[in-house]
Amino acid sequence: MQETRNAPLAPLTTLRLGGPAARLLTAVTDDEVIAAVREADDAGTPLLLIGGGSNLVIADTGFPGTVVRIATTGFRLDGTRLELAAGEDWSAAVARTVEAGLAGIECLAGIPGSAGATPIQNVGAYGQEVSATVTEVVAYDRAARATVTLPAADCGFAYRHSRFKADPGRFVVLRVRFALDDAKGLSAPIRYAEAARTLGVRPGARVPLADAREAVLKLRTGKGMVLDPEDHDTWSAGSFFTNPLLTSAEHAAFLTRVAERLGTDAAPPAYPAGEPGGEGLVKTSAAWLIDHAGFPKGYGTGPARISGKHTLALTNRGSATTADLLALAREVRDGVRAAFGITLVNEPVTVGVSL
Ligand code: EPU
Repeated sequence: MQETRNAPLAPLTTLRLGGPAARLLTAVTDDEVIAAVREADDAGTPLLLIGGGSNLVIADTGFPGTVVRIATTGFRLDGTRLELAAGEDWSAAVARTVEAGLAGIECLAGIPGSAGATPIQNVGAYGQEVSATVTEVVAYDRAARATVTLPAADCGFAYRHSRFKADPGRFVVLRVRFALDDAKGLSAPIRYAEAARTLGVRPGARVPLADAREAVLKLRTGKGMVLDPEDHDTWSAGSFFTNPLLTSAEHAAFLTRVAERLGTDAAPPAYPAGEPGGEGLVKTSAAWLIDHAGFPKGYGTGPARISGKHTLALTNRGSATTADLLALAREVRDGVRAAFGITLVNEPVTVGVSL
């Protein structure tokens, strides 16, 4: 196993932020992952796992223990069943399923990061979430010191949430299994209104798989959500905050605040939160809240700023530190709370720091 001492972690994250790891191990097989985790656990060393680093905010002081970079490979397609090793690049895997004519994850194209990270926060975009297609997650259970296979029903999937996120550190995802759909080259019904508009179809229509993937890539690119080393608007962890889920009483109070502040014409987005755990709740838009609390696209004068393409992405303009990014995140969170009485919650995982 490749081992480096005092290894910089910033290059392993899409934000390019964070100090060094005392020790960095790169694991290329499941057995290496398990051996590295067991060794750290036996020695009582703090452990951090890194996949694609696309949803991670690491302290400027770095990580005082062992960091295991999951670099396992494996893309296995058997009919409509797909098994991905945790280290596989997610976006490349999506492209291959689209080429194979299989539907179910085509709208998750262009999401940076690794396959193993997708069940952790139940990755979702443009009307699809991995919880709809994941059948099983194979993981190393650090509490039981054994490899376990968790059926989707035991993964606790909800909006940007799962059992893995609820019990951080316990499970080390090794493989993710999916059931895709052989819909003769057609996509799953396009649910997201903006994606349907881009494709020129009604919501619910099916389109050629490749068209769905391309439309999503186009939308994501327009929002700075496809990585481009030349474009600092993409040096982010994607959405920095989750979209708030409000009870009907909270939603009513929110609408009153909005009317007082912005007038009765203001119409914040509201969607029924249909996900498991979101029944009966209204999902509103964190991006809208941020915009209307006085933080427009491009907000900020320092090295950490709101993306020029989407208010929900906080970006590193090249010379930012994690402290800069968190100062901006706190300013935004506090400003939204003061304006609308809603407290935004960060979506990325924070290591050695918190909001
Ligand atoms: N909006 C603004 N200002 C902006 C951008 C958006 O006011 O700069 C408002 C608009 O009203 C817009 C609404 O926010 O209609 C929703 O925006 P968008 O369609 O871009 O979606 P989002 O809710 O901001 C979520 C996910 C994204 C995912 C997109 C598309 C979360 C936290 N974010 O963003 O996921 O790609 O929908 O499905 O759920 C991520 O999780 O990292 C991520 C990028």
